[in-house]
Amino acid sequence: MKVITKEGTKDIWALWYEAGLVKFIDQRALPEKLEFFNAKDYRDVAFAIKDMVVRGAPAIGAAGALGMAQAYEQRRDMAEVAQVLRATRPTAHDLFFGIALIENAIKASEDPVKAAKVFVEDLVDRCRRIGENGAKLIKDGARILTHCNAGALATVDYGTALAPMRVAHRAGKNIFVFVDETRPRLQGAKLTAWELKQEGIPHALIADNAAGHYLSRGEVDLVITGADRITASGDFANKIGTFEKAVVAKACGVPFYVAAPISTFDPGTKDGKGIPIEERDQDEVLFVGGKAIAPEGTKARNPAFDVTPHGYVKAFITEAGIFKPSQLGKLDWMRKKRRRTGGRGRGR
Ligand code: MRU
Repeated sequence: MKVITKEGTKDIWALWYEAGLVKFIDQRALPEKLEFFNAKDYRDVAFAIKDMVVRGAPAIGAAGALGMAQAYEQRRDMAEVAQVLRATRPTAHDLFFGIALIENAIKASEDPVKAAKVFVEDLVDRCRRIGENGAKLIKDGARILTHCNAGALATVDYGTALAPMRVAHRAGKNIFVFVDETRPRLQGAKLTAWELKQEGIPHALIADNAAGHYLSRGEVDLVITGADRITASGDFANKIGTFEKAVVAKACGVPFYVAAPISTFDPGTKDGKGIPIEERDQDEVLFVGGKAIAPEGTKARNPAFDVTPHGYVKAFITEAGIFKPSQLGKLDWMRKKRRRTGGRGRGR
């Protein structure tokens, strides 16, 4: 991703492996500061995932794979490492995919560091292809709504939902993005707006509860979000608030697309009821910028994700093409993935 620094524009990834360290852009510090977090061992990687130094389904999948590879180089107990990494966040399927990939590489006597690096490079390429496929859906002049951050920060590079917007913009299409602020962690305001600014893509930040207003007035042509886990039925989990955007989009006749790489698909989980939903600390809701926003003693609930039934999805934008929910069961890669998990979803 393009990042404007004092020394000029740089092209960097959200995370990578270097000299025995897993290195991350520290997403907690954005947009104020561009800082980096160096994970010296798997416990640091687990902390980085849990505390959201790194977040976004494909990016935490990459962190899981690189954390496993680093632990193998450090001759750790791999069963313990896999357990600690798996216990960090329950919803995103990519995390379980990335960890299993390195477990399988070790079983096959392959070099885990090489396997993890190839996985991450391949992920970047897959996101690039998501961008190329998705850009075909974006007409010149399109106004797009997105939720949370499904950009380069969430995927190593390019993004999923943001990838088609990057490709359309770079191809000279005139596009405009409505960015939901995404309470309580404000990934839209802090991260998506930051990425779009770096790329020079015209956008406006809106309060989460303003999306329906613009959808109902015909000011949004399409919605594109990412996903944390997509089940066999096409029901999918994504950042809390996605479900209501999908319902309103359908009510207003606006197409709703979900962009995700194959690593986010979990054909071993039948439908949305089987997706574990992470509940995070209530203080994320009760405090903004370190300041309490409710009377002392107020309790809060804080689900990190919600499930959108497949009936609200016009299509999934993947690196392998664009598919309607009804097509998922017939796809070869969905069938192969289901056989590999023995029909059981991971992370439950
Ligand atoms: O809690 P987060 O920030 O990890 O949640 C991220 C999202 O919900 C994203 O929309 C999703 O992972 C897709 S990222 C390409």
